[in-house]
Amino acid sequence: MSDWSHRHILDLATFSLEDFNSVLELANRFKDVPTKGTRKLPALQGRLITTLFFEPSTRTRSSFELAAKRLSADVQSFTPTSSSLSKGETPIDTALTYVAMGADVLIVRHSSTNVPDQLASYLDATGSKTAVLNGGDGLHSHPSQGLLDLYTLAKFFNPNNPKPEAIKGKRIVIVGDILHSRVARSNLWALTACGANVVLCGPPTLLPYEFADFVNAPPPGQSHDPVAKRGQITIFRSLKEAFKGADAVMTLRLQKERMRQNLITDLYQYHYEYGITHESLKWCKQKVPVLHPGPVNRGVEMSSALLEDTSICLVKEQVQNGIPIRMALLYLLATRV
Ligand code: CP
Repeated sequence: MSDWSHRHILDLATFSLEDFNSVLELANRFKDVPTKGTRKLPALQGRLITTLFFEPSTRTRSSFELAAKRLSADVQSFTPTSSSLSKGETPIDTALTYVAMGADVLIVRHSSTNVPDQLASYLDATGSKTAVLNGGDGLHSHPSQGLLDLYTLAKFFNPNNPKPEAIKGKRIVIVGDILHSRVARSNLWALTACGANVVLCGPPTLLPYEFADFVNAPPPGQSHDPVAKRGQITIFRSLKEAFKGADAVMTLRLQKERMRQNLITDLYQYHYEYGITHESLKWCKQKVPVLHPGPVNRGVEMSSALLEDTSICLVKEQVQNGIPIRMALLYLLATRV
């Protein structure tokens, strides 16, 4: 952990393989804390963690708050509907109000891309020590989700030693609305960094061919890729083709508002072509795990029966693994401020 260099956690595009190793190793050390002994560690006693969610969340926000409490930090939450946003205060000025109250880490979710980056740049420029952790911004990035998905897959493939190398060479299929998904983008950076080959599958309106080149160049503002050799990305339109040789399947929430934009015409047709069911999983060569970041539209991106089949569906494990992953992220940031 001594090599950890990130003052903020904004995007997994900036993570090296060592960074992924550090987070998974620390999460694995924290994994039993919520169920054993006093169920807490004193590691962040006296630190102040603030969740600033300008967009709704069930999993991410509560999981970060619980992770902070498991490390004995103080937790402060912000509720947009009863805040001074309604009086015209900007998100950045709202965040700076919490910085002035002494927040050590601000976890920020916003519907606009780059709000966490803008805040981090402002804090750096003004000499503030407060760290920013991206809780999901626009279509850009959802780092803690990408990391908990990686940990869930590593635990599935190697339960006794869940390191990034457990997924090297695996064929991971991501299905659905890739274009509008910050989760997919974070997973692309994480999975390819660890040597997985990613197969993307979806209709052309939700998955443009440009995604095949997604990790071929560093994102804007980054001069080089911190990962020497990444896994590959390929695109299939047909689920049957995509599933050939799959080692794991991840499906994404279909944002129903996309129907209003005419990007899909019929949810039943979408489910027929891209919905994951016990039947469609027979196209895989073997029994594979199915992941979904949540929230799930039952009967759209996956069948209810599959969602409830805990021998295949890892949604519950993803939620559980989110706690030690977020404990690790908070520990890495808050012990350095
Ligand atoms: N996966 C995810 O980000 O869920 P929430 O929107 O409930 O936080």
